[in-house]
Amino acid sequence: MISPDADCRLCGLCAGRTNLVLPSGDRDSPVVLVGEAPGENEDLQGRPFVGRAGDILNKVMEEAGLGRDRVMITNTVKCRPPMNRAPSSEEMEACRPFLVSELRGRKVIVGLGKSAVRDLMGYDGPMADVVNTRRYIDVGGEKVLFIPTYHPMACVYRKTAREELKATMAAVREEFFP
Ligand code: URA
Repeated sequence: MISPDADCRLCGLCAGRTNLVLPSGDRDSPVVLVGEAPGENEDLQGRPFVGRAGDILNKVMEEAGLGRDRVMITNTVKCRPPMNRAPSSEEMEACRPFLVSELRGRKVIVGLGKSAVRDLMGYDGPMADVVNTRRYIDVGGEKVLFIPTYHPMACVYRKTAREELKATMAAVREEFFP
C-alpha cells in the first residue's frame, strides 16, 4: 500500500489539513469500506470514522455481527474538504493512486455513500436505485467486487437507509467471514 507524503500537496485540500487520514483496521482484510472524506474529528485524530459517522457505523456493524477490526476502512480522499463539502472529481483523482493501492487484491469493496459510489462506480444517480446491488469494478486493471450502500450519516433520519446499511454489513459478514 502506498500513502501520501506527510507534506502531500497533490491537491488543494492540503491547505486545511491538520492530519492525513490513512486507512485503519485490518490492513490484510479481504473487505474494505470506503467512505467519502475525513471530517473534523478525523482530521484532528488522523483516523477515519472516529466522529459521529463513526459512532453510527460502529453501532450498525456491531448489530450486524461484523467487528470493525475485521475490515479495513478508508476514504476516497485522505484530507478533510473545507466545511465538510464533498470532494471534487479532481481531488479524488489526485488521491486515486493511494486508493487504488489500498483496494487492490481485496475480495470486496463496500462504497459508503454517494461520493464513494461516484468515485469508484462512476454512478451519480439516486442511491436507492443501486444500494446493495453488486458489480465488478476496475481497480488498477484488476476486477474487484463492489457493493454500493448508504453512508452512515444518511442513516440519521432514515430508517430504511440504516436497514440497508445493516443488510450490507450482515451480507459481508456471512459471505466473507463465514
Ligand atoms: N465520513 C466519511 O465519509 N469518512 C470519515 O472518515 C468520516 C466521516
